Amino acid sequence: MTLKEKYQDWYSKHGAQLQAISPKYDVVFEVAKDEPIVFEDSANVRLSAAIIADTHLPNREAAEKNLANTFEDIANSKETVDAFMLAGDIADYGFKSEYERFFRPLDQQKCVKNLLVTMGNHDARFFFRKNSAIVMKKVEEYLKIKTNGKTYYSYDINGYTFIVICTEKRVLEKAYISEEQQAFLDRELARGTKDGKPVFVMCHQPFANMHGLPEVWETGDMGEQNDEVRAVMEKYRNVFFINGHLHGGIYKNVVDTVNEANGVHSISIPGYRKPNNFGITDCGVGYLMEVYDDRVVFRARRFLTGKFMHGEYTRLEYKLI
Ligand SMILES: [Fe+2]
Repeated sequence: MTLKEKYQDWYSKHGAQLQAISPKYDVVFEVAKDEPIVFEDSANVRLSAAIIADTHLPNREAAEKNLANTFEDIANSKETVDAFMLAGDIADYGFKSEYERFFRPLDQQKCVKNLLVTMGNHDARFFFRKNSAIVMKKVEEYLKIKTNGKTYYSYDINGYTFIVICTEKRVLEKAYISEEQQAFLDRELARGTKDGKPVFVMCHQPFANMHGLPEVWETGDMGEQNDEVRAVMEKYRNVFFINGHLHGGIYKNVVDTVNEANGVHSISIPGYRKPNNFGITDCGVGYLMEVYDDRVVFRARRFLTGKFMHGEYTRLEYKLI
């Protein structure tokens, strides 16, 4: 029996039981309409994004509805949110039905023009080829770009560059980032930062020794090419590295510095579907990013219920250098 068959066999026997003992799967949340998204300085905002991670969608109606809440929340605002970003772990088990659940709200929404998604280890660990084909086809459809069989891509919005890096092969937890992909990252960072603008890089897995690693998760880092990828990112100024994977919640380790002199920062986005591990542990929380000429602001928002979060590390401000 192949690994894939073993997995499917195991899931067909135990999947239903597993879901039945997880009642949280079926809690449906409602979006409040009394606290819509308002930017800090709407007249001067140059770029904005709603960022979430780790949707881990099971094939459950409630989970799909709860993901759709993010778009309902954005649609309820008078502001234009330019981008939606999902920092990986789209699906829980990596089944086709789970991707259908995930992409339906994205297909149906009309409020965000640019949808940037990437795979996490839950997407890549068992059915890498099949799932990367599903995900990259949607990337091509949403952004109208060609990805030429790659799992990584870049895209410009309002004159700002977004670079999405991703594992290129089946891995259990970490990411495999080839030399070719590292060169792509280098090139795109050079292009995106040449006029002094910030650049946004997204990858599911964070760098080693950041966000509480390895204490919070011994093997939770990017993996083998960690140092090479980090060295590339450290060369450029005003780089914001957005990642997921850790389900850390909002607490002191939600932010980290990759290179202080160059203003390279890492932000660990909390997991969307399940409660997180530390600090503010609520599910359904991500960050709303606002980019201005001189600064980038991230504010924690519970897109799931349409509310801003309050407390430490719920507002992060970075002056551009
Ligand atoms: Fe993950």
